[in-house]
Amino acid sequence: MHAFKDMIRIYMRILTKRYVLSCNSHDVHCQPVTSEGVQIRSLRDCSLQSLEAIDETSSTNNHTRRIQRHSDSAMGLGTWFDVVDDVMLQRWHTRHLPTDPAEVLGPDVKGKTFIVTGPTSGIGTTTAETLARAGARVVLACRTVKRGQALIDSWNSTESEPLRCEVMHLDLDSLDSVRAFASAFLAKGEPLHCLLNNAGVFDMSGAFNRTKDGHESHYGTNFLAPALLSLLLMPSLKSAGTASAPARVVFVCSKLHQFCPRLSLDDLGFERRSYGARAAYAQSKLAEIQFTRELERRLGVMDGEDGSVRGDATVRCVTVHPGNIVTGVVRTLPYVVQVAYKIIMSRVLLTPSEGARASLYAATRGEALTGTGRAPYFTSECVAKSPSPPALDDEAAAKLWDATLATLGLPKDFKP
Ligand SMILES: NC(=O)c1ccc[n+]([C@@H]2O[C@H](COP(=O)([O-])OP(=O)(O)OC[C@H]3O[C@@H](n4cnc5c(N)ncnc54)[C@H](OP(=O)(O)O)[C@@H]3O)[C@@H](O)[C@H]2O)c1
Repeated sequence: MHAFKDMIRIYMRILTKRYVLSCNSHDVHCQPVTSEGVQIRSLRDCSLQSLEAIDETSSTNNHTRRIQRHSDSAMGLGTWFDVVDDVMLQRWHTRHLPTDPAEVLGPDVKGKTFIVTGPTSGIGTTTAETLARAGARVVLACRTVKRGQALIDSWNSTESEPLRCEVMHLDLDSLDSVRAFASAFLAKGEPLHCLLNNAGVFDMSGAFNRTKDGHESHYGTNFLAPALLSLLLMPSLKSAGTASAPARVVFVCSKLHQFCPRLSLDDLGFERRSYGARAAYAQSKLAEIQFTRELERRLGVMDGEDGSVRGDATVRCVTVHPGNIVTGVVRTLPYVVQVAYKIIMSRVLLTPSEGARASLYAATRGEALTGTGRAPYFTSECVAKSPSPPALDDEAAAKLWDATLATLGLPKDFKP
């Protein structure tokens, strides 16, 4: 019994330590080490005594704290524990939130313009509908225009006045489609108050796919295309934002970014390592967070003391983990598995309406940008939390920025 209790205590200390270290780390990924300097990757690497020693040195003297670059294997147990906790207890964690997503909206939505990508399914549908019914002008950026139009028609059927919605074609599989969408929107000369990069794929079947431009599909669809869209739409965002009420770019990210220990910029297409859908998805989501942090830095958002930010940027970036939701994300699984998944998991998972709360909070609430630090990351609880330590690695984010500009064919000195 004692041994078991000790094991739990040690494990909790590893988890706690990881959080503490991650909060303090901006340049490197911190990993706890024993007093002998051995990196702790599992319970076998440590004893309670050595963990006590780490606490002692790290809290009293920063110089003695051993910081090491993150290693792939270090993600293991803690990440799984965290993700399982997030799935199984999310209803409990989010119990303070209203079930109606309209109730999390900020007060100044009416008359503002929002672009929502992926509005034809899941979280995106609720997000777009909630904004539109609250009086916002909503551009539904979707790859099947007919489906977007059908949604607007069905929403309008219960309204006395037509909603201010428009459908525009956008296929994130193709960077040309992104360019065409951006130039069509910019040509309207309309200010854009918020771009919600919601559309995304997670091919649970495990098949390796490429976008039309030849990029691994998770990386291309979830990250590269929305990154390009965000950069190209910057003039519209800047014309809408002010220092006191910045325009926003929201990326619907995922907690699963924690499964990616670092971006392999020399092998984003999994040419030299074995492919896994979870790894590819996690890579794309980690890239989203690193990119938003670097984008904010280049937009003039600087880290202040006490976790706040300095600067008078007129555009801010936010990432959210919406929770774990029953959506079309399982569409690539066999039909029987999809049905079973939906029946079994519907007791545990959130509904798309509940999943849209974090996006709507991040897109419209003033508190989402105050006292939350640079490029805040919100969880399904609508609370700003620290993403994984690699997501906070500014050096890696700068490298990703350069690589992304090169891939997107933008000049090295491109200024957002
Ligand atoms: N569901 C979850 O548990 C969960 C958890 C964490 C994060 N997320 C993230 O939340 C976001 C929304 O996911 P969801 O769960 O609502 O998924 P979903 O139901 O599968 O909806 C995805 C949306 O993205 C669109 N889309 C996919 N590929 C596209 C492309 N190439 N071009 C344009 N649009 C495309 C889809 O359009 P079609 O209708 O035309 O296919 C659909 O509207 C994603 O970024 C996902 O990674 C979801």
